Amino acid sequence: MGRENFGSKLGAVLAAAGSAVGLGNVWRFPIETGQNGGAAFIIIYVLCIIILGLPIMISEFLIGRYTHANTAGAFRIVSNGSPWKWVGRMGVFTGWFILCYYVVVGAWTLHYTYLSVTNAFYGVPAQQYENIFGDFVSSSWMPTLWLFLFIGVIHFVITRGVQSGIEKSAKLMMPTLFVITIFLAVCSIMLPGASKGVEFLLKPDWSKVDSTTILEAMGQAFYSLSLAMGCLCTYASYFEKNTPLAKSAVNVALIDTLIAIMAGFIIFPSIFNIGMDPNEAGVGASLTFVSLPNVFQQALGDGSVLAVVFSAMFYFLLFVAALTSAISLHEVATAYVTEEFNMSRKKGATLVTATILVLGTLCSLSFGPLSGVTLFDRNIFEIFDDFSGRILLPLGGMLISIFAGWVLDRRLYHNEISNQGNLKTPYFRMLVFSLRYIAPLAIGLVFLDQLGAFSFLK
Ligand code: PFF
Repeated sequence: MGRENFGSKLGAVLAAAGSAVGLGNVWRFPIETGQNGGAAFIIIYVLCIIILGLPIMISEFLIGRYTHANTAGAFRIVSNGSPWKWVGRMGVFTGWFILCYYVVVGAWTLHYTYLSVTNAFYGVPAQQYENIFGDFVSSSWMPTLWLFLFIGVIHFVITRGVQSGIEKSAKLMMPTLFVITIFLAVCSIMLPGASKGVEFLLKPDWSKVDSTTILEAMGQAFYSLSLAMGCLCTYASYFEKNTPLAKSAVNVALIDTLIAIMAGFIIFPSIFNIGMDPNEAGVGASLTFVSLPNVFQQALGDGSVLAVVFSAMFYFLLFVAALTSAISLHEVATAYVTEEFNMSRKKGATLVTATILVLGTLCSLSFGPLSGVTLFDRNIFEIFDDFSGRILLPLGGMLISIFAGWVLDRRLYHNEISNQGNLKTPYFRMLVFSLRYIAPLAIGLVFLDQLGAFSFLK
């Protein structure tokens, strides 16, 4: 059977945007922005996207579309057998690795959607939310049950194929995600006292900007755009030959940034409405699963229909965001095993699903029965998270930019990016300059920062 392509340019962009828009947009970006100078941080973040993110995204798109192969195969083709082929294999491995812990959080969003719909937060005292979350993640069968359901949905989409699975689901889920985000943001902004939240998010405060802010903005831009884990390269291998690469990358980055900013409009007005200090609200899981359920109940009326609807829609939004990202990660691994080991799509997908069922369960249980299994004081979930986020991602990003800037044939690059001379590319020299000098240097700094080299600055 021939290799499938996306059926439309819109479907291709929505699928890639689905990969980019994920948990990071909701549980990390808004709080980072608020604490690091509001609009000042957003401006730095956008600059990081333009200078660093777009050149790498365009390069991944280019390598994928040019080779029409899975990420490992793609790098093998463009590297002409040199050791650079390992960059592709590393990308596959990174994506696969991230997926194992990402699905655990995806499962939590399902559980919290269920709790919201059943009005389980009604009458819960503020200090109880931590226990609710703690009891849930440390139990053995509940998180595992949701985990299997979450992985089951991913498997269903992946086995249906590129057009009727990935593309169709992106065309359904991304507009849904957009509508829910706008609805929740508008509701939240109408709360009394909301303006303080908007101010916290948007008022530029340059005094809070220092070198670590910039490193943080770079790291976030990188993670948020799903760079260096094979996703974009794999999806681009299903692009039609005439898909405009730079324009698609700009669209994906725009959607990703817009959703991240709107997530801030959902979160902060309600936090300020109840008089909570946003710096106490936490970040990541504690923000999402401990502070926010309480905030929503208090801001919208404990047990009220509005609180139920708002809360349920919020966790459903997170579920959709996590799902589309997880699908893209699964596809990286599925495309790899089916093409490199000559398997049917169904067999390949089943193999990948089996591995994440096992490793995902281990990650999930690491908050409960397996919490004693640690390495350097980190549990299994945290080991997966640290290793992929702190080491594999920045390393992969740096190698991709060096490869695209220094090794990949310049004429081939220009030919591809201009769609064989049919598109104008006034940005080409700037792009190459960034890939050669700025991106490797900047990502190198992020890498050292992730390893704690600059902790003395903080
Ligand atoms: N970009 C996603 C986010 O912002 O949450 C996270 C992510 C998705 C990371 C896909 C890695 C990945 F391969």
